[in-house]
Amino acid sequence: MAQFNGRFIGSIVVLTGAGISAESGVPTFRDADGLWEQHDPMEIATPGAFRRNPDLVYRFYNARRSMLAAVAPNQAHQALARLQREFAGEVFLVTQNVDDLHERGGSSQVCHMHGQLQASLCTACRRSMHAHGDFDRHSSCPACGAVGCLRPDVVWFGEIPYYMDEIEARLAECDLFIAIGTSGLVYPAAGFVQRARGAGATTVELNREPSEVAGLFHHRRQGLATTTVSALVAELLAG
Ligand code: APR
Repeated sequence: MAQFNGRFIGSIVVLTGAGISAESGVPTFRDADGLWEQHDPMEIATPGAFRRNPDLVYRFYNARRSMLAAVAPNQAHQALARLQREFAGEVFLVTQNVDDLHERGGSSQVCHMHGQLQASLCTACRRSMHAHGDFDRHSSCPACGAVGCLRPDVVWFGEIPYYMDEIEARLAECDLFIAIGTSGLVYPAAGFVQRARGAGATTVELNREPSEVAGLFHHRRQGLATTTVSALVAELLAG
């Protein structure tokens, strides 16, 4: 059984945000060169935006999906995969990210609460399907054949994130909650630290700079994810 700060740790919940993929070359949302500095999220990442201007939304997500081929997982993704493989207890990895870098970094269990770039959702048959390449309003659903009913299977502002029941259950029973590379500005993910604390967990924030909710964490380690995540995983596995 691992120890953290003198406490025995049997179950861990890890929450990741865009900061864990930044060193792989994937833009974050709110950093100086972030996606929301170049695009108004209300014109891109809402159901209303999709209704008003579907072609713009398709282009945005098609571009981000095709960019995945040009990036690779970094040491932070690989360290978390090692933790999942070698830790004696439970590790539940929930990510706000829609990229596939956790999986390509070796993680087998990844809870994508905001959906995935490489998935399309058919609004006719409600099926979610793997999407490799581009699709748009002229595309037909591979499952039911409906034309013009495919949308990116990502959770937009105003929509309910996926897997919240399971996430809440894991937060209620974990000994250690680790948030990595997230600004703490978007709920419900930004509230996970409070749920974990309320359940008695020890909480740690790993970020390049303090997040909006940094003050709610018992411990904060500032630095680049490739450094801080690798060090924390080594510490947990040694303990
Ligand atoms: N190492 C560690 N942290 C980093 C690094 C790095 N190399 N680079 C950036 N960060 C941190 C930033 O300091 C910031 O706190 O990552 C965080 C990125 O914040 P955001 O861009 O807001 O990304 P995120 O928190 O994942 O956004 C949450 O908002 O727009 C929605 O759905 C979208 O999932 C996204 C959600």
